[in-house]
Amino acid sequence: MVLASQKLLDMLNRAIAGEMQAIIQYMWQHIQWKGVEHYAVSEGIKKVAIEEMEHAEIAERLWYLGSKPTTQPDPIHVGDTLEEMLRNDVKAEVDTIAMYKEIMQIAEKEGDVATKEIFEEIEADEEEHHDFFTSLLEK
Ligand SMILES: [Fe+2]
Ligand SMILES: [Fe+2]
Repeated sequence: MVLASQKLLDMLNRAIAGEMQAIIQYMWQHIQWKGVEHYAVSEGIKKVAIEEMEHAEIAERLWYLGSKPTTQPDPIHVGDTLEEMLRNDVKAEVDTIAMYKEIMQIAEKEGDVATKEIFEEIEADEEEHHDFFTSLLEK
């Protein structure tokens, strides 16, 4: 049984693809550390990667609503230097926040309160990630 519009189902799948991108991108950045500065933040980046994995449980909601979650992540941009990595991460978070606000609006319009609430919580985490990455870029 399908319990949501095709538009909302597609958006949830886009969200899952983005979460998978973030998991891999941040884990590889955690691993590919070089130098004291990167070492100092590498555990923090891993912590964010693990939170993204929890977010990927959006798939559970999508499955309940009647659609199959994608296994294809969005393009992964690890980066070479720490600064490049953090810039890639800020961009990922900015794009995600914008998408999740759109999902909340669509869910609300469709009267899907549970999906909206799930994304409210996750979006707040993404704002924390955005704050973390932007703060690391400050000199
Ligand atoms: Fe996330
Ligand atoms: Fe995030």
